[in-house]
Amino acid sequence: MPYKLLFVCLGNICRSPSAENIMNHLIEQAGLSEHIFCDSAGTSNYHVGSPPDRRMSVAAATKLGIKLCGQARQFQKSDFQDFDLILAMDQENYENILTLDQTKQYHHKVRLMCEFCSRHTLKEVPDPYYGGQEGFNQVIDLLIDACEGLLTQVRS
Ligand code: 4NP
Repeated sequence: MPYKLLFVCLGNICRSPSAENIMNHLIEQAGLSEHIFCDSAGTSNYHVGSPPDRRMSVAAATKLGIKLCGQARQFQKSDFQDFDLILAMDQENYENILTLDQTKQYHHKVRLMCEFCSRHTLKEVPDPYYGGQEGFNQVIDLLIDACEGLLTQVRS
């Protein structure tokens, strides 16, 4: 059984699909595709069915040479059972996820993505949606750092 990671943001079109695709890129490079599975979701239903935001795809292609794949879906309660680790992009995502775990039995599975950064000191992955291209590029840099740290932790 693979170890299952779920990345969660608000819309599931900018930050969490980037985290999912960057993590899959690192997992493939490490030859661990059979052992670690990634998915992403949004706490909202605003963009269900949509592909990743074009501005995010441009940033990922420019900085890493990767394509962003996926279709937005909403986080659901069954994800608590289905995944081993749930990574929230910011504090609001974190709280919205925990609110759905009324019995608190899955709290230990939910973490903030930036806990895994080693080069960046930001505590949250900023929401780039209403800003310019530079914000999307910065999110990619931050997520590369966090995904590298996360891979190290999951491997050990
Ligand atoms: P994400 O970015 O949570 O990183 O996917 C956003 C996407 C859409 C909206 C906000 C943030 N929105 O308000 O529609």
